[in-house]
Amino acid sequence: MSNKARKAAFEGLKQQKKRLMRTTMRELFVHDPDRFSTYSVSAGDLLLDYSKNRIDSQSMRALFDLARDVDIEARRDAMWAGEPINSTEHRSVLHMALRYFGDDPVLVDGADVMAGVRDVLARIEGFSNDIRDGAIRGALGDQFTDIVNIGIGGSDLGPAMVTLALAPYMRPNLHAHYVSNVDGAHIHDTLKTLDPARTLFIVASKTFTTDETMTNAHSARKWLADALGEQAVNDHFAAVSTNIEGCQAFGIREDRIFGFWDWVGGRYSVWSAIGLPVAIAVGYDNFEAFLRGAYEMDQHFRTAPLEENLPVIMGLLGVWYRNAWGFATHAVLPYDQRLSRFPAYLQQQDMESNGKSVTLNGKSARWETGPIIWGEPGTNGQHAFYQLIHQGTSVIPCDFLVAANPHEAMPPHHAKLVANCFAQSEALMLGKTKEEAAADLKGTGLSKEEIKALVPHKVFPGNRPSNTILYSQLDPATLGKLVALYEHKVFVQGVIWNVNSYDQWGVELGKQLAKALLPEVEDTASSGEHDSSTLGLLARFHALKH
Ligand code: F6P
Repeated sequence: MSNKARKAAFEGLKQQKKRLMRTTMRELFVHDPDRFSTYSVSAGDLLLDYSKNRIDSQSMRALFDLARDVDIEARRDAMWAGEPINSTEHRSVLHMALRYFGDDPVLVDGADVMAGVRDVLARIEGFSNDIRDGAIRGALGDQFTDIVNIGIGGSDLGPAMVTLALAPYMRPNLHAHYVSNVDGAHIHDTLKTLDPARTLFIVASKTFTTDETMTNAHSARKWLADALGEQAVNDHFAAVSTNIEGCQAFGIREDRIFGFWDWVGGRYSVWSAIGLPVAIAVGYDNFEAFLRGAYEMDQHFRTAPLEENLPVIMGLLGVWYRNAWGFATHAVLPYDQRLSRFPAYLQQQDMESNGKSVTLNGKSARWETGPIIWGEPGTNGQHAFYQLIHQGTSVIPCDFLVAANPHEAMPPHHAKLVANCFAQSEALMLGKTKEEAAADLKGTGLSKEEIKALVPHKVFPGNRPSNTILYSQLDPATLGKLVALYEHKVFVQGVIWNVNSYDQWGVELGKQLAKALLPEVEDTASSGEHDSSTLGLLARFHALKH
């Protein structure tokens, strides 16, 4: 589809929007009592209820037509066939191979990658079992009790999010920590509670050159060597990377280096050896269940008709709000405390993927692309920013996520959590009219004038869209399904926006400038080659520095 045709398709969606602006979801629900069954789909036990969106059959048809016009299925198949769809880096995009449990070969440049994938998985299984069983110990013979993963971005957010989400599957005597920020406070505050003799470091970096990670890794190494001697480094460090020479140069022994491949993007790498701390923390069986859950979602994405395809539907709804309605942000609101890092994880997955303004053919995108993704777990968010979602001037489409079953038998907690979750989407959709607000105030003892003055503040506009994703329990397989669901949603949107969802050139400029600025931060001698703001900040920084 040409850029011109895309532009025209988005204009067509805007016409659909104009038509739908004449009604509200409240009315749509009244006119169609079956709206929930029409607009909900399942993949296994995972349900997506998208009935509380500003859609009807005509607008959905237009969206599915768009998906067909951009050849979503052919592009999906091209990804799976190993075509270099990451065109600016000439790379295949095959994170699905990392969790593939079928029998077919998965080809990159004509070679099957599955033997390599399975070999690394077997090594992860062996190593994680040995750490958990105490067959592999520290230099002084102590069993490891603490794993510190040092990485950033995709080498941190995925395993950190998953470790937190799968807390019920962790052993009490094994703790996983994640250090990412170059701010020394992060590694300092992590290490100060740890015993070097019982601590294993995993240096996780696809490139093994990322400044933050290498700086933290060297500080960790010094901390360990100062306590146990240089020779102990061998026993207390492992690495995960595509840069095997880099790991060796750091001094990590060969049998502790876990590789992956350039066809795995950093933000899609939690399924690779980047998941090693997860396998250690929750056990390999649970890690494999996580991969199998994602595999199930992959099968769904690859085979379900577009009209029943969860990632396709979620992707299309995102496009609908971004390109027809002009909504700039999208909130992810898990009613699941253990998914508290899920929004942060999705920020990288989505915003680093589709935060692009140039199309695949090098032209400026003349339409909006990736939205701002944000969120916090409910019910905390309700007491913080939901005010704006209900009554603010911006419309924010939301995803609510909730489990039918908690891990803890602690009534009435879970019932209250679920009631709040369902109440929020209902309130956002229904709103409260002037008449309803006035009726609420009747009998409160307020005068007519007081009621008249208060009513406008008590009106809820409603008609605010949301999806609800309901699953049985936050177990490893369900988590795998959820993560894969959002990955494929991002893919769908990238195809529609015609951007490369798999590069991230936009992070480079800041890195280059930080490198150039470092000597001027460390030393008062300034090159003078900066704007007046940067020069002013440097000068004040040196004046304030102790
Ligand atoms: O700078 C952005 C980025 O390249 C991310 O895409 C990546 O996940 C992160 O840095 C970490 O990179 P690495 O795993 O190579 O250290």
